[in-house]
Amino acid sequence: MGEKSDTSEKDVTDFRPPEDFARNAIVNDPEIYSRTEKDPQGFWEENAENLHWHRKWDSVLEWEPPHARWFTGGKLNACYNCLDVNLQKRADKTAIIWEGERGDIRKYTYKELLEEVCRFANVLKGMGVGKGDIVTIYLPMIPEVIISMLACARIGAPHSVVFAAFSGESLATRIGDANSRILITCDGYSRRGKIVEQKNKVDDGIRSCGLVEKVIVVRHIENDVSMKDGRDVWWHEVMKGSDSSCEPEIMSSEDMLFLMYTSGTTGKPKGIVHTTGGYMVATHTTTRFVFDLKDEDIYWCTADCGWITGHSYLVYGPLANGATIVTYEGAPDHPEKDRYWDLIERHKVTILYTAPTAIRTFMKWGPSWPQMHDISTLRLIGSVGEPINPGAWLWYHENIGQGRCPIVDTWWQTETGMIMISPLPGITTTKPGCATLPMPGIKAAVLDEKGNEVEPGKDGYLAIMEPWPSMVRTVFGNEERFIETYWSKWDNRTYFAGDGAKMDEDGYFWIIGRVDDVIKVSGHRIGSAEFESILVSHPSVAEAGVVGKEDELRGEVIYCYVTLRSGIKESEELKKELRMYAEKNIGPFARPRHIIFSDDLPKTRSGKIMRRVLKAIANEKDPGDVSTLQDPAVVESLKERTKMLESS
Ligand code: WTA
Repeated sequence: MGEKSDTSEKDVTDFRPPEDFARNAIVNDPEIYSRTEKDPQGFWEENAENLHWHRKWDSVLEWEPPHARWFTGGKLNACYNCLDVNLQKRADKTAIIWEGERGDIRKYTYKELLEEVCRFANVLKGMGVGKGDIVTIYLPMIPEVIISMLACARIGAPHSVVFAAFSGESLATRIGDANSRILITCDGYSRRGKIVEQKNKVDDGIRSCGLVEKVIVVRHIENDVSMKDGRDVWWHEVMKGSDSSCEPEIMSSEDMLFLMYTSGTTGKPKGIVHTTGGYMVATHTTTRFVFDLKDEDIYWCTADCGWITGHSYLVYGPLANGATIVTYEGAPDHPEKDRYWDLIERHKVTILYTAPTAIRTFMKWGPSWPQMHDISTLRLIGSVGEPINPGAWLWYHENIGQGRCPIVDTWWQTETGMIMISPLPGITTTKPGCATLPMPGIKAAVLDEKGNEVEPGKDGYLAIMEPWPSMVRTVFGNEERFIETYWSKWDNRTYFAGDGAKMDEDGYFWIIGRVDDVIKVSGHRIGSAEFESILVSHPSVAEAGVVGKEDELRGEVIYCYVTLRSGIKESEELKKELRMYAEKNIGPFARPRHIIFSDDLPKTRSGKIMRRVLKAIANEKDPGDVSTLQDPAVVESLKERTKMLESS
């Protein structure tokens, strides 16, 4: 500990894994890197043996760039690998400890969870849901979200979980794209003590989309809701008398396990397709390696199942490892700012996996909140979702990790399915703010525009050089977009991640952030184009350019540059209205920080809005050469308007 290293960040201290941690770690031999580098497929094959296969694979990888097929010929079921496999040794072990925002606690053993999942799988079957039918899940963090996901996996119906805070409109878009007939939701839920009317959002959202035939509604808060005859049914009623055993559907390795919608560079969200075999091998393995997950651990991942982290590292990875997982429904400051630490103390959490925005928020609230509790059970802490700045890393290390827990800063994406760059806590010397090294079996690089590796210390684009088991297979219904987004920057075998990065002299990767038009607000992915298309659907708006502005707390916040239609007057009321409009159409997490009116926007001569220039203006950086703009003068006036916001 305490050794200085020569990195681009000045005066950064390195942290070696504590000796006792290293001694007992699942991975504690650095030789793993050299061994797997020579034979990555052998590494994945070796780890595939840890799952239950109904039929073994014929080949580990078939790679026809940019299409990879993993463990072909293999047959398995993801739900079986999360639940049934644990029955022999862990039937009565707690699988889920769930805590509601109001303080209610529900626990499920592996046996109980399997029974609930089977009962719900039978309900779905009874509604005619079968292999390949996409089921949409629109639930907050209650046990039913996990039960639904696993029930879908059991019968081979891919799930598409839509983050509960998305608007009804966003829900409807995703249902439409996935062509999904069945929707699972709830009456409502509590957020910071306030009721969110989830069922009303559903009713408004899907009114105009005729696809949904059945809505299964969990009664969560005894909220008064209207139930549409013939379409809506209560979860508890359909579960009554449902059989608690259900044979798993035997799936091919490359059958779709789930769809996860995520924002990209165009207006429409992309349905990222993940398949069964490779995804399960990847999440099972990385959960063990990165979190050093052991049978006695109490593992808490604070992510929501509406995002990929909730899929890979709350549900599939940990349950396939037979872990006890903790999940919490609510906000970290309800009823007080010590809720997380209180939870850790009461449930004796040993591993915590959370996001930089949360860590920076805790930092702002001050160390007295965690100090009110005994959090000494913690032995490993993790971070995901955005770059973590060295200051927040050090605060996390000292105040939550108590100076002794290794930190795993894990870089990955919805598209990668698994953690790609991260320390292995028993062997990697960490540096505050750095995601460190590619996982065993992963080959990453920092490339320039032409695809050449850049020198250490220089900025470039993060690329993945070889296929990996949980890689995105396609964009649902849009193969072209899949190729164009991820496999066209250089050649069709080099994956473009959309992130900027640099490597230091030790070969460590420092992630800088998105280089495309994706904005990360508190770790939530929001597409500029998606946002703009919503703004321009407002009757007062002619044009809009939406960009991220760096923010100390949230990573980024949203700045909307808006040109109004002729005859429409700028006003504070209109700003407010547009803010609410965006919130209603996307969700409260996407509330713009500022709406900036302008008579014109920076455009190329062909009329394309230059987000790059807007982003520089919002961040008070040099926009570079603007001489090719239709009207370069626009830049000065926008700078002026942006500056006024900051001083106001
Ligand atoms: C960012 C979340 C720096 C990155 C799992 C990536 C990170 C995007 C890190 C994917 C990290 C995630 N350090 N940046 N440890 N983890 N990111 O799809 O920009 O919601 O491309 O997946 O989050 O976001 P997504």
